[in-house]
Amino acid sequence: MPSLLDLTQQGDVATITDESKLGSVTLMDPQELYRLWERQQWQSGVIDFSQDRRDWEEMSEEQRQEMMYGLSAFFVGEERVATQFSGLVMAYDSQHEEAFLCTQQVDEARHAQHFNNLYEQVLQYDGTYEQRLDAARTDLNDAYRVLFDEHLVEVNQTLIENPRDLEAKVDYIVTYHMVIEGMLALTGQYFQTDYMEKNGILPGHLEGFRKIARDEHRHVAYGTWYLQQKCKDPGLARRAQDKLAETLPAAAGVLVPPGYTLGEDFTYMGYTSQEQNEFAYTALSRRLKVIGLGLPAVAA
Ligand SMILES: [Fe+2]
Ligand SMILES: [Fe+2]
Repeated sequence: MPSLLDLTQQGDVATITDESKLGSVTLMDPQELYRLWERQQWQSGVIDFSQDRRDWEEMSEEQRQEMMYGLSAFFVGEERVATQFSGLVMAYDSQHEEAFLCTQQVDEARHAQHFNNLYEQVLQYDGTYEQRLDAARTDLNDAYRVLFDEHLVEVNQTLIENPRDLEAKVDYIVTYHMVIEGMLALTGQYFQTDYMEKNGILPGHLEGFRKIARDEHRHVAYGTWYLQQKCKDPGLARRAQDKLAETLPAAAGVLVPPGYTLGEDFTYMGYTSQEQNEFAYTALSRRLKVIGLGLPAVAA
């Protein structure tokens, strides 16, 4: 599993596999991540979806339906993380951090553009961008709404009201960078990418999705860097643990596909619930070790 704990630098930073060394990992700082962003530009608008459209039409209705949950979770998720990000941009502590955070906001808008293009050109959802988002929302479950419309919106609003509130910034980065991006997005990306590669389908989407995953690793690397600094303070470490415990139940529910309830075994796109949960929690717990935190009991 090469992308389990990228912490980025695309091939020049080795994937960390030695658990005993996780506590002493040197992370890229916001300026290094900003420079990496400059080297990793891409354009969502030039991706060729012509083969994707043929693939989609040739797929069975059952296969399309199954894929919809994962695709819609990303389409709506990218819109949510793009529009609920301004509070963190306001909360920068240095010019380098401000520059990096601006790049992340642009990235999330670009990711949402990619999915809007996919829904319009391949899935052939007519109407406006907003109407396509509304249609994608009907594929999602209550846990998804709790995480993206309640937890995420709340941490962003709190930060907008007081960008100098350090505890609010820790709450935000735990919810957004650790749980939504680090645990859910990178897990979804791993399995959906593997599925498309194995089935030889949707090459245009795959091209964009790989670039999105590369961007996500940069974002998660920033969040890990931030928490590694701040969680040296025992009070903030406790704060981060509490926020994880509060948001992980909803995150666990997001991994459950339609037709199942939390705690039930399922298979989604050929992968078992056990495989997916193991990937998600291993990735999360390794990042927490880098930060110097343990996984809260709620996730065990
Ligand atoms: Fe994104
Ligand atoms: Fe992201």
